[in-house]
Amino acid sequence: ALERTLSIIKPDAVAKNVIGGIYNRFETAGLRIVAAKMMHLSKEQAEGFYAEHSERPFFGALVEFMTSGPIVVSVLEGEDAVKRHREIMGATNPSEALAGTLRADYAVSIDENAVHGSDAVESAAREIAYFFTDEEVCARTR
Ligand code: CMP
Repeated sequence: ALERTLSIIKPDAVAKNVIGGIYNRFETAGLRIVAAKMMHLSKEQAEGFYAEHSERPFFGALVEFMTSGPIVVSVLEGEDAVKRHREIMGATNPSEALAGTLRADYAVSIDENAVHGSDAVESAAREIAYFFTDEEVCARTR
């Protein structure tokens, strides 16, 4: 099915200057960027986005990292976009990520793992709405 998913290029990858390299992987795989912005999250924004992890032991470090520098937040659209995006990213822990995935190539640890992607269609809808208004997600016109 035609889906949308939320993609975040995290502060470590932005600092490495690999935004274009990551976008290229998405586009090469047939995913379209239909919304995009660079932003530097506040603590409140990061805590809200990751609220489902608030009881996990890594929550404080996660919020600290995600507010440590600018990120690029995008909406990707395509056939089976949620799963396809996750395949391109590779496993959350880069030591388990398959060769050729973004995490294998760019992540250094499970904490600084270069990218985030929605894990299901339902969470994608919630995550997209967290960062973008309906008007900011651009429909194809040609
Ligand atoms: P992300 O997909 O952005 O969602 C939550 C993040 O928490 C995850 O990527 C990891 O970067 C980070 N994290 C740190 N430790 C863990 C862990 N043990 N399990 C899952 N995520 C973790």
